[in-house]
Amino acid sequence: MREDNGVGAENRLKPLVKWAGGKSQLLGQYSSLFPVCFNTYHEIMAGGLAVFWHLAPRLTGAHISDNNPELINFYCTVRDQPEELFTSLARHRNEKKYYYTMRSLDPASLSPLERASRFLYLNKAGYNGLWRVNSRGVHNVPFGRYSRLSFPSLPDLLAASHYLKKTHIRQADFASVLDYARQGDFVYIDPPYHPLSASASFTAYSGSFGEEEQARLAEICRELDARGVQFMLSNSDTALIKILYRGFDLQQVTARRAINSKGDGRGSVKELVVRNYC
Ligand SMILES: C[S@@+](CC[C@H](N)C(=O)[O-])C[C@H]1O[C@@H](n2cnc3c(N)ncnc32)[C@H](O)[C@@H]1O
Repeated sequence: MREDNGVGAENRLKPLVKWAGGKSQLLGQYSSLFPVCFNTYHEIMAGGLAVFWHLAPRLTGAHISDNNPELINFYCTVRDQPEELFTSLARHRNEKKYYYTMRSLDPASLSPLERASRFLYLNKAGYNGLWRVNSRGVHNVPFGRYSRLSFPSLPDLLAASHYLKKTHIRQADFASVLDYARQGDFVYIDPPYHPLSASASFTAYSGSFGEEEQARLAEICRELDARGVQFMLSNSDTALIKILYRGFDLQQVTARRAINSKGDGRGSVKELVVRNYC
């Protein structure tokens, strides 16, 4: 399937990576919470981009960003070289020794295509789809022991490429949204969640996202609000989040989540959606 005009491409849009905190399971509850109309769409903590892929066929313009350099290089490669990426993915092996060899490579020594291919391989073959790096930025997720690897098909990559070609993609801190968002735009924000308890703290992302970062993000949201930009933010239902976003519309949604610190128990958890519009 060639996606020259986008016809049919929307049927193939879904996250290309497994990502901690991915929002696919919440799209049904979110659909009535998106704004009725807006100009440009911004997603400033991209991860697996579940919301972007859901909205993409209806968007007139979009900006996506994340501070993870490997993730952003991956999306740029999907946009620019979907066929070459597909060919490269087929060469990977689902073997422990091979996995650790790939993991040990320095991304800086690779071409953008090789980096993107290694990124998706480690994401699919590593434990639980985690992307975790140590304090020196070195990937340290163990081999996942899956019976098979599920890479995107070529039509999936071509459909994603079609929409990414119409999208500004950048590696950036979330605060850079203030350089791009204009009155009438819509910003969706899905940060690492504020932990429900100290023992539930889960740092799957490079760097830490503690209470200071949550407060810095809330300041950015207040600035977006002052500029007439609509925002919608997902986070956990905690006292801190309710205080930081006091005065905005708060809606509860129900998510299936790991419910203990080991992540091996599953249950329903109430989460919040914060909006500056109704
Ligand atoms: C919960 S995930 C987003 C999941 C995504 N909505 C999905 O559907 O898969 C949070 C993302 O925030 C990114 N992030 C963490 N700190 C950031 C920062 N200071 N600036 C930009 N992105 C950041 C992480 O790299 C991660 O991809």
